[in-house]
This record gives sequence, structure tokens and C-alpha cells, in this order.
Amino acid sequence: MKRTVLITGGAGFIGSHVIRLFVNKYPDYQIINLDALTYAGNLENLTDVEKAPNYRFIRMDIRNKEAINDLFDQQPIDGILHLAAESHVDRSIAEPMAFIETNIIGTVNLLNAARNQWKGNYEGKRFYHISTDEVYGSLGEEGHFYEITSYDPRSPYSASKASSDHLVRAYHHTYGLPIVITNCSNNYGPNQFPEKLIPLSIHNMVNMKPIPIYGKGENIRDWLYVEDHARAIDLVFHKGMIGETYNIGGHNEWKNIDLIRLLCSILDRKLNRDSGTSAGLITYVTDRAGHDLRYAIDASKIRQELGWEPSLQFAEGLEKTVDWYLSNSEWMERVTSGEYQTYYESMYRNR
Ligand code: NAD
Ligand code: DAU
Repeated sequence: MKRTVLITGGAGFIGSHVIRLFVNKYPDYQIINLDALTYAGNLENLTDVEKAPNYRFIRMDIRNKEAINDLFDQQPIDGILHLAAESHVDRSIAEPMAFIETNIIGTVNLLNAARNQWKGNYEGKRFYHISTDEVYGSLGEEGHFYEITSYDPRSPYSASKASSDHLVRAYHHTYGLPIVITNCSNNYGPNQFPEKLIPLSIHNMVNMKPIPIYGKGENIRDWLYVEDHARAIDLVFHKGMIGETYNIGGHNEWKNIDLIRLLCSILDRKLNRDSGTSAGLITYVTDRAGHDLRYAIDASKIRQELGWEPSLQFAEGLEKTVDWYLSNSEWMERVTSGEYQTYYESMYRNR
């Protein structure tokens, strides 16, 4: 079926994997990648699909209401997968405004533009908002996040994502907009910007630099390989029920310090270093303000209703991830120069 699908944030980490999957799997779809190319957006992530006849890139900022409205005036759109966001918790603590503007106002700009174009004729239309498990807050040692868990966001990032989730649902209830939302746990894999724990640690291990662990390293995250998330997004976009929310997670909880020790042993082996060399770089630093203790997703709804399950075991996913970063050192060098270096120095100077 011919369809025009707009994917926002397609030059980022998860977005680039979603673009690749859709461009290759759906040659009949016109895929438009709309991205502002902030520090986190990198078209190098998409060189393998950039010349595909069903792919088009538009550089545009979702905060720019006029530009978004002009695009929707000119271009009929059947489906929207909305991934564009400011995504890093530490940056949201340092500078919250960009998170309010992009994650909240930018989302509302897209909702309004879709509503204006579709004018209540929602046949074959879909607005899919990609969100995070962080909207549910922080767990103690027990329990999981379910789709019905009350929202309790605790950082400017998660509050901005929670706000956008509420607005997306409000547009469904108020205007009938055909929406679907997913809330996913921590992703890892190729092309992740090295401000996030796993790529940052790999980069520092390779370069024999300190690996900063916040607090005691006892915070727990539930890790999912990015291509498994992209597969879930494909499934929900095509088969998810309008108005519904689906949690996506890896059922794969790790304390930060245990994860980093595992990563250190993989790096030592792959770089032919003496065992313990990389672990010697672990450095405990001042904790993140308001650091959520534990996230854990119950993903039974998407498994039972849509048949999705993670395909990769963590050990295998981490090996693939490390291999990718080691064989793409030029990618890493380019994204760790310039703006990122300034950010890195300011973030870790006082820790
Ligand atoms: P990312 O930071 O790697 O990429 C974000 C992309 O959005 C970049 O390409 C950037 O240029 C673009 N962007 C940012 N502001 C924009 C704006 N104003 N206008 C247009 N484009 C803009 O993020 P990611 O990790 O790939 O996350 C993608 C989405 O998935 C986000 O909505 C995030 O909240 C959500 N999510 C991420 C994770 C995770 O572990 N990374 C987990 C669950 C949900
Ligand atoms: O849970 C989903 C979320 O996962 C997404 O919504 C976010 O966009 C994504 O950034 C991620 O958020 P986290 O804050 O969990 O990811 P991050 O990689 O920043 O941190 C993971 C854990 O590691 C967290 O407990 C903080 C800790 N950490 C992080 C960094 C960058 C460190 O100990 N040291 C570090 O240098």
C-alpha cells in the first residue's frame, strides 16, 4: 500500500534504526525523515539508505510552528512516528528549557498540524508517539512499570516526556486523533551518542580515560537492544490499537556497576589487554541530582497482544555493540569532537 510516513528524529540513535528498518522493509512507503540535526542528530547514521528512492530528508525544527504547518499544508501524510526529542537526563538537569520547547511545544506543533491536515478524516491515519519508561518515576527493589502505573516523572526530561504523553492522549480523547503511545526502557546499540552510559564508557575504556559512575553505581536500568525496539515500533505502528499504550522493555535489569564491569571484561578481551585493565578506570563521581533508583518494564501486554519479544540476549547484544564501536572509531572521533568536548568538560568538571 502506498503511504507517506513522517518520522521525526530520524537522524538520532533510535530514529536512525527505525528509518533503516522502514526504508528497507516498505519500498512502497515514502519515508520522510524530519530532523533539526541538533548535536544528537547525525546523518552519517543513515549513509546506507540515504539514496533509496523511497527516502527523503527534511531539516526542520519541530519548535518552528510555521515551518511545520507549511510542510503539512503541502505534503499529505498518512502516518507520523514521533521520535524527535531532547533525550539526555543530565542535559535536562543543566538546561531544562530546550526540553520544554522541543518535547512539549514541538509535540503539540505536530499534533496541531496533523489535526489540521486530517480534519477528522482519520481513515488510514496514525500519530505514534514514542516515549520512555521514565514517565513512571522510580521503583524500589520490587515491582514493575505497567501501562496503568501512575505517572511520577522526577527529572525535567521525564516531566517533559510525561507532559507530551498527556497531550497526545488528550488529543485522542478530545479530537479523536488516532494516536498510539509506547513507553520503552533503556536502549543500547550502534549509533548512540556517547553522552549515554554505554557508549561513553566504551569510548573512555578505549582511550584509557576514567569511567564516571554516578553515586555507588547501584542504580538499575532495564536494557533493550535498539533493533528490538525498532521492531516493536514497526509492530505497534501497523498493528497497535488506536488510543492504546504499550510498554516495551528488555526484561533485563542491571546495576550500573555490574554492567560496566561486564563491559570492561569484554573490552579487555577484545583489545587483548590484561584482565582488570579497563575496570581500573572505574571512577565513582558525584551522583546525578534526583537520580531514579530503578526502572523495570512489564512488557506482557505487547507480548500477548502483538507477539513481540526481545530477540537478543544481553551478552550477545553487548558484544555486537562493542564490535560496532570498535570498528567505527571514525564515527566516534567525529561525534566526540567539537560541541561534545565542551559539554563533556562542563558536565564532569565538578564531579
Ligand atoms: P537522540 O537524542 O539520539 O536523537 C534525537 C533526535 O531528535 C536527534 O536526531 C535530534 O537532532 C532530533 N531533534 C532534537 N530536537 C529536535 C527538534 N527541536 N526538531 C527536530 N528534531 C529534533 O534520542 P534517542 O535516544 O534516539 O531517543 C529517541 C526517542 O525515543 C526520544 O523521544 C526518547 O525520549 C525516546 N526514548 C529513548 C530511549 C533511549 O534509551 N534512548 C528509551 C525510550 C524512549
Ligand atoms: O529509560 C529510558 C531512558 O534511558 C530514555 O528515556 C533516555 O532518553 C535515555 O537517555 C536513558 O536515560 P538514563 O538516564 O537511564 O540513561 P543514561 O545512559 O544517561 O544513564 C544510565 C544510568 O547510568 C543512569 O543510572 C545514570 C548512570 N550514569 C550515566 C552516565 C552518563 C553514570 O553512572 N555515569 C555516566 O557518566
